[in-house]
Amino acid sequence: MKRIFSGAQPTGNIHIGNYLGALRNWVELQHEYESLFCIVNLHAITLPQDPKLLAQKTRDLARIYLAAGVDPKVSLIFIQSDVPAHAELAWILNCVTRISELERMTQFKEKAGKQRESVGAGILNYPVLMAADILLYQTDLVPVGQDQKQHLELTRDLALRFNRDYGETFRLPEPFIPKVGAKIMSLGDATKKMSKSDENVSGSITLLDDADTVRRKFKRAVTDSGTEISFDETRPAITNLLTIYQILTGRQPAEVEANFAGKGYAALKAELADVTIEFLRPLQERIRGYGDAELDRLLDEGRERAQELASVTLDDVKARLGIVGARARGGV
Ligand code: AMP
Ligand code: TRP
Repeated sequence: MKRIFSGAQPTGNIHIGNYLGALRNWVELQHEYESLFCIVNLHAITLPQDPKLLAQKTRDLARIYLAAGVDPKVSLIFIQSDVPAHAELAWILNCVTRISELERMTQFKEKAGKQRESVGAGILNYPVLMAADILLYQTDLVPVGQDQKQHLELTRDLALRFNRDYGETFRLPEPFIPKVGAKIMSLGDATKKMSKSDENVSGSITLLDDADTVRRKFKRAVTDSGTEISFDETRPAITNLLTIYQILTGRQPAEVEANFAGKGYAALKAELADVTIEFLRPLQERIRGYGDAELDRLLDEGRERAQELASVTLDDVKARLGIVGARARGGV
């Protein structure tokens, strides 16, 4: 059976962009693949985090995966730092990565901004850890949003280079980027993606927002000039709202446009708020429904199985590199 790996960072507030771009597809694909869904807390610490909050958000994110429909009977959920092989393989891959490759990453350039000299090395090396996550499990498919495409390309490059230099070791993963919803834009600025780190909290609808908040945020959402409600690349704000509506209702674009023919922006925002609230209500109930004991059990199971799978690849990698412990035979 082919394998899926994906993950999200336990930072900020997970939003409908994360759901529509990534989680939704994990849930769809999990029955066709052997699936591993990771909570990538080692990625989270590339920026300073409050330790207590990070620990809490790590567990909360596991609850969100489950509530979104990740089925622990068929998929593994685990915490990245529970499987030390991720950090080990990341170190090894760092040694086959060029600094220039990392400096070229769009996300690095955005995050480092003008503080290139003072930014943490973890921000630069972030994609190497992501490559390790993926390659450790001989992953076939990685369902992610559009913003991760470049990191996936780097992952493939590193795998190819390692395979060339040390022999066939890693499977080459393919990205799975949905045709619709791979880049949900901020409600405050339709030229920017909806982001957990947006200073404008009204820019994103989080999965934990209550009904009043959802209504208020959609009401404030920016729109484009004109009055027509149609999918149109030159009018990104309305197209973004329609895209969210389209996915949450499961309707075709033409049906969505027909539904709003002759109506104004206020109607679109009100209907979109209704649909979103209806979507979030059961999800939020399920999030609250997972007790600590059940969560511990699932995360323990996830850790054990992930460790087993990871050690197969890591042992092979180490043997190929000649990294062996004192007890291994063959020395002088
Ligand atoms: P992160 O928030 O960086 O942990 O992202 C978790 C997943 O959500 C990744 O697969 C991202 O590509 C995806 N994602 C993040 N922001 C968006 C967005 N605005 N639209 C669609 N997908 C997104
Ligand atoms: N970098 C991803 C993000 O910010 C999260 C991530 C880390 C990931 N490791 C991964 C996604 C491996 C897919 C596969 O969204």
